[in-house]
Amino acid sequence: VEPSTEKAAPPPVQLDHHQAWLLGRVSGRRFQHSVGAQIRALDLSDKFGLSPEDRKKIALASLLHDAAKEMSPEDLLRYCDDNNLPLTPIERDTTQTIHPVVGAHQVKQLLNVDDEETLNAIRFHTTGRAGMSRVEKVVYLADKLEGNTRNPLFVQKVMSFVDPKRPESLDKALLFLLDSTISFLMEKQQVIHTHTIEARNDLLLALRPVAAPAK
Ligand SMILES: [Fe+2]
Ligand SMILES: [Fe+2]
Repeated sequence: VEPSTEKAAPPPVQLDHHQAWLLGRVSGRRFQHSVGAQIRALDLSDKFGLSPEDRKKIALASLLHDAAKEMSPEDLLRYCDDNNLPLTPIERDTTQTIHPVVGAHQVKQLLNVDDEETLNAIRFHTTGRAGMSRVEKVVYLADKLEGNTRNPLFVQKVMSFVDPKRPESLDKALLFLLDSTISFLMEKQQVIHTHTIEARNDLLLALRPVAAPAK
């Protein structure tokens, strides 16, 4: 009998509970983006030696960060009003800043995730904020630096800031991303969320070299 030249069918991909939940809410392309973000997030976690506990939070938040991204602006606003999620006037006007708020609420309510740091990493993945934890920073970076749907040249440029031997390089990469976002929004004459400005100021001050003590 001639050996069959037909390729064996690939084994069915086993989706875990969270992946299956996400796939029920977003398009295939968004799912690819989310899986890519999780891969990048775990890569950054390993590069910077984060604890297994932080790694778990990061894996979940990066996968689920865009759970509400494909809701319409009207549905996002209605969801916030129905669930008493307060929105600032800027947020009501710039609906792209609302999906993280709704996503974090849905992950808490529907998947019973109650770890605040995981939820905050989802909640602040678009705007950032002052005083971000390392978990929040890694998820913010991973969303913009994933390999499946983001511009590879841009990813490469930002990743060139990352040096596992220098812990502060995480902040440098983040500052570069915030600067790019702010420049982009200014060029487009779009509103900039105050959290983004505060995140940038916070990092600039943290990265400022400490003055040498006077002799
Ligand atoms: Fe997002
Ligand atoms: Fe995203």
